[in-house]
Amino acid sequence: MMRSLFNYGALLPLLAAGIASGLTPAEWRKQSIYQVVTDRFARTDLSTTASCDTSAQIYCGGTWQGLISKLDYIQGMGFTAVWISPVVQQMAGNSADGESYHGYWAQDIYALNSAFGTEADLAALSTALHARGMYLMVDVVTNHFAYLGCGTCLDYSIFNPFNSSSYFHPFCLIDYSNQTSIEVCWEGDNIVALPDIKTEDTGVRSTWNSWITSLISTYSIDGLRIDSVKHQEQSFWPGFEAAGGVYMVGEVYDGDPAYVAPYQNYLDGLLDYPSYYWITQAFQSTSGSISNLVSGINTLKADALNLSLYGSFLENHDQARFASLTSDMALAKNAIAFTMLKDGIPIVYQGQEQHYSGGSTPNNREALWLSGYSTTAELYTWITQLNQIRAQAIAQDVNYMSYNAWPVYSDSNNIAMRKGYDGYQVVGVFTNVGSSSSATVTLSSSSTGFTASQALVDVMSCTAYTTTSSGDLTVTLSGGLPVVLYPLARLSGSGICSSLTGRTLTPTTSSTKCSATAVAITFDELVTTAFGDAIKIVGNATALGSWNTGSAIALDASLYTSSNPLWSGPVSLAPGSVVQYKFIKVSSDGTVTWEADPDHTYTVPCAAATVSNTWQT
Ligand SMILES: *[C@@H]1O[C@H](CO)[C@@H](O)[C@H](O)[C@H]1NC(C)=O
Ligand SMILES: *[C@@H]1O[C@H](CO)[C@@H](O)[C@H](O)[C@H]1NC(C)=O
Ligand SMILES: *[C@@H]1O[C@H](CO)[C@@H](O)[C@H](O)[C@H]1NC(C)=O
Ligand SMILES: *[C@@H]1O[C@H](CO)[C@@H](O)[C@H](O)[C@H]1NC(C)=O
Repeated sequence: MMRSLFNYGALLPLLAAGIASGLTPAEWRKQSIYQVVTDRFARTDLSTTASCDTSAQIYCGGTWQGLISKLDYIQGMGFTAVWISPVVQQMAGNSADGESYHGYWAQDIYALNSAFGTEADLAALSTALHARGMYLMVDVVTNHFAYLGCGTCLDYSIFNPFNSSSYFHPFCLIDYSNQTSIEVCWEGDNIVALPDIKTEDTGVRSTWNSWITSLISTYSIDGLRIDSVKHQEQSFWPGFEAAGGVYMVGEVYDGDPAYVAPYQNYLDGLLDYPSYYWITQAFQSTSGSISNLVSGINTLKADALNLSLYGSFLENHDQARFASLTSDMALAKNAIAFTMLKDGIPIVYQGQEQHYSGGSTPNNREALWLSGYSTTAELYTWITQLNQIRAQAIAQDVNYMSYNAWPVYSDSNNIAMRKGYDGYQVVGVFTNVGSSSSATVTLSSSSTGFTASQALVDVMSCTAYTTTSSGDLTVTLSGGLPVVLYPLARLSGSGICSSLTGRTLTPTTSSTKCSATAVAITFDELVTTAFGDAIKIVGNATALGSWNTGSAIALDASLYTSSNPLWSGPVSLAPGSVVQYKFIKVSSDGTVTWEADPDHTYTVPCAAATVSNTWQT
């Protein structure tokens, strides 16, 4: 039943530029993930005005090419991985439930959703991420397909590959109080039916397993987010995970740790829905319950098999956004900081950084381009700082991830969380008093582990603190903002709060001395070509097309002779930056040929310069 997946031949040259193999769970837990709803993140035309009415529930035009063009925006916040919407071909047409713009309505798993782009575009996205040292996480649905029509009026023959009713459970709508019903009955409704695949069937399992092996290798995917995990029998997951060979984080949509935690016996990671509920209700108002948050965190810690592999989030495409519950910026900052610094891999949903305030689905799926991709937005900066301190804590202590965070202090409005061993601990102090109030909290040495007269920094405000001679510390949370304490000694040279911690030790002399913001670098390439061929340069900087051959920069052949086959052209680059690049040959029929490995690496100087290269074979 399995057949060759996609057109490997056409993709090989594209993939050659960014080799990466899937990331293990141990590597994933150091990452920080940005969740993209592909249709709503960036369009190929990079419009920031194209209308997108969320209530209409139709395609708004986001693409993989658009996403490639906007990776600087994501990487600029310190994220190291991007989770994208499901990629496979969807149900066509509109309905009272809208169109398939979200990607959860598959009909053909052997073709891609053409609304998002081509096979080459998806491969280019993977390559562009890898060229930046970032990772690709793809959303996958194995529980169901979709059909435009009622649950008893399906034409199964249009599905690929599960093209008959024998691959599906008989139609019934779910009784959520009955686990068997959750697993065998159908999600969805009678407008768009979501036929529930018989994933317990051996043949179905082997089809899914071969498919995921192939998809992951074709696009060099580094990890998966799995939809509707509680709607399938648990025994499906180990085989699927083994076939994929990458970290998988599953959606078990439930707030009860006792229900969620056991799924980790079958799947690497789980979305931390229990904490999502407690954090939201604790910080959404000044009367939120901190004590429920404290007891919840302690219960989850006891139940969870491995919290470091959970995905920690405050928002996603299925939940009302935090800012729809309160517009208070200080409360948002507390909730975001709490989520990103607790155990698990942080996941931030696109638009969170712009304080988007859409309510329940579909209102929470606003087009990001309408924000103009502001990188000066208050929460964009806030999230950047949080990613920085988390990365610093991980870099300072390899065991940081293994330390389970716990509440070391709480009262009715405030909670302090500690994560990290002595000398390397991050202590976050959070409050729900809101932006028009302040709170004062005294933390004892025995709870924080801080020592006598220890120098600490609140890395959010860059304020210096020193513990008392007994190691205690009193902090004031002004304007309802949280404080995130970390030992000064562990920040040296990090670039974090450099007014307190000193200059960064990494050599940035060329960039700090440069007055120019961009310099013209002329790239010369000696390569013999046939009539009709074009030579282009492509690399990891935006100005070099972000490894996307469609955006490669064409060189000029006006100096070309048979004895000196010179192609040449200028590219404007940032002084002090390091770029990786390659030359490609594009023939008149559009065929792209890459020069051989390795990638060229070049440090851009302060003034215009010429770089000479010869085609690598
Ligand atoms: C959690 O998973 C990581 C990565 O696989 C592993 O290194 C660590 O030992 C696990 N921790 C526990 C408590 O099982
Ligand atoms: C390009 O690659 C170099 C070398 O690996 C790296 O230092 C640089 O940050 C990368 N640039 C971008 C924009 O990803
Ligand atoms: C399902 O697809 C297979 C393989 O393409 C084909 O042989 C079979 O006839 C199809 N069955 C139905 C019911 O359309
Ligand atoms: C649970 O759901 C299954 C599947 O629909 C059904 O066969 C079973 O009778 C239900 N059990 C109860 C107790 O309702």
